[in-house]
Amino acid sequence: MLKKDDFILLLSNKRTYLVQKAHGKLHTEFGVIDLKKIKKYGQTIRTHKGVAFVAVQPTMSDMMRKLKRMPQVVTAKDAAAIIAHVGVRPGWKCIDAGAGSAFLAIMIGNAVGPRGSVVSYENNKKFAEVAKHNVKKCGLEKIVNIKNKPLKKMTEKHLDLVTLDVRDAEQYVEKAFRSLKPGAWLVVYSPYIEQVISVRKRMQEAGFAHITTKEIIEREWQSDYFSRPKNRMLGHTGFLTFARKAIKRKMRKKSTKSKSAKKRAKS
Ligand SMILES: C[S@@+](CC[C@H](N)C(=O)[O-])C[C@H]1O[C@@H](n2cnc3c(N)ncnc32)[C@H](O)[C@@H]1O
Repeated sequence: MLKKDDFILLLSNKRTYLVQKAHGKLHTEFGVIDLKKIKKYGQTIRTHKGVAFVAVQPTMSDMMRKLKRMPQVVTAKDAAAIIAHVGVRPGWKCIDAGAGSAFLAIMIGNAVGPRGSVVSYENNKKFAEVAKHNVKKCGLEKIVNIKNKPLKKMTEKHLDLVTLDVRDAEQYVEKAFRSLKPGAWLVVYSPYIEQVISVRKRMQEAGFAHITTKEIIEREWQSDYFSRPKNRMLGHTGFLTFARKAIKRKMRKKSTKSKSAKKRAKS
């Protein structure tokens, strides 16, 4: 049985509408839908003109299309690449900054599930409020925690993933290294190549390994009678730089020392 705050996605072959049951009546170009008559997901409902819609439970992607956007958000193609590259698992403990509109935090929160957590730092009060609102709308408030604090105040340790989407990300690379578990990941989203260069340099200095940078290009095709890529596409969004914490720095230095000592002894 659906409750009045539940979200419903009304789906026909032509259109979709995302509504809350409490909305009462929905006026569409196909006629009026009485939402009170929808009792459960999967039910088919007709407008007063007889046009059929099926009422389904919205997915996280359906919900995200309706969220408030403040600063530039991380798009689905980039979030998907982050989640797939590092192999996010249910139960992971993650840190994200800055939260912005919480798009990336929400997508990671959806992947880590109820046993996991995402703490997302945002230093701007207004953005933090929007981020909290978006998280609540997606029903993830028990998983994604928006902290209205600067990233330098981060205290969390033994993390599986840190994602940074802040202008001066290179300043937090060392801190991220100390907060991550061995084998865990840092991912930095940077709109400009100059940022990528300084982030990669800091990653190397901090002791990160397996550093790779990618740009994800998405091109939609139109397929009517003849098929071809659409004229317009989403151009550049950002570069993704991935780095993994492998051997602790102290241990690495020790093993390098012992190797050179062995060499000296041989010669
Ligand atoms: C581009 S937005 C992030 C968008 C977000 N990743 C999303 O997908 O919705 C960058 C955000 O970082 C915040 N920010 C910048 N420096 C910060 C810092 N040192 N600590 C916390 N937040 C910071 C900004 O206020 C801004 O909201």
